[in-house]
Amino acid sequence: MSTTTTTTSRRLEGKVALITGAASGIGEEAVRVFAEQGAFVVAADVQDELGHRLVQSINNNKTQASVCYHHCDVRDEKQVEDTVSYAVSRYGRLDILFSNAAIMGPMAGIMELDLQALDDTLATNVRGVAATIKHAARAMVAGRTRGSVICTSSVAGCLGGSGPHAYTASKHAIVGLVRSVCSELGAHGIRVNSIAPFGVATPLACKAYGLEPSEVEANTSAMANLKGIVLKPAHVAKVALFLASDDSAYISGQNLAVDGGYTVVTHTPAHLIPSHPPIYID
Ligand SMILES: NC(=O)c1ccc[n+]([C@@H]2O[C@H](COP(=O)([O-])OP(=O)(O)OC[C@H]3O[C@@H](n4cnc5c(N)ncnc54)[C@H](O)[C@@H]3O)[C@@H](O)[C@H]2O)c1
Repeated sequence: MSTTTTTTSRRLEGKVALITGAASGIGEEAVRVFAEQGAFVVAADVQDELGHRLVQSINNNKTQASVCYHHCDVRDEKQVEDTVSYAVSRYGRLDILFSNAAIMGPMAGIMELDLQALDDTLATNVRGVAATIKHAARAMVAGRTRGSVICTSSVAGCLGGSGPHAYTASKHAIVGLVRSVCSELGAHGIRVNSIAPFGVATPLACKAYGLEPSEVEANTSAMANLKGIVLKPAHVAKVALFLASDDSAYISGQNLAVDGGYTVVTHTPAHLIPSHPPIYID
């Protein structure tokens, strides 16, 4: 626990959260941040060894275990249903879903795209997310918790050309799914949002491009709009915390970019824009 965090000021005190893709990268960091802020967390993933190790490292520092690991392959609806039931039976309710698990999928161009690989990517990144929202929403509605659902999209959910085709399609689908589900769950007091990070040097990005973390960071920093800062999993996890907490009590249906302005600024080199900087004529 950070030295500045007191029990009374913790932003998720007593809340129950389910995080998928929790064994690594952004999800792993979110487990740490949510637990530090007082939440009971079910960390779900398919990487069981990493997941157990993460949970142990957090619970070792506490008098009471507040984080547990549960195997869940989000492609399998039964496993998703069981994981939600596990969270509710262990902690009594479900307040927060951070549906974060995803894969990068095939890196091929459209003319070489393996459609089975496209299906596999959508099965994790879209169907898997839909399954988690479905079962979490059932638990939240049944428990009358005014819950918060947070998905991880990407800058590739806002723009073409910033990721491979199947991944980009899947992340655009997340933005649509979030808006659509927001329109239904608002009636139950449940908020639904997504986060769109820019490049982060996690295993997902490093493996896809065959690069070391330092190389991914150098590449993304070179492309970034916001200079002088390197995007880390903790930056994204803190935005998930904001959307999970009452600090965002009236925010729903949004795709909150954590991209330093990348998706709202043109990437055309400045010297090719005739009036850059703009020339104003009275
Ligand atoms: N790293 C980036 O540059 C970046 C940028 C934008 C968005 N994102 C998104 O952030 C999220 C987290 O990715 P990350 O970058 O932390 O990568 P990561 O590889 O570190 O973490 C992803 C986790 O998801 C898990 N996972 C994969 N398939 C699963 C399945 N079927 N069921 C359950 N768990 C499964 C993996 O085991 C892994 O632990 C993803 O949704 C990703 O698309 C990442």
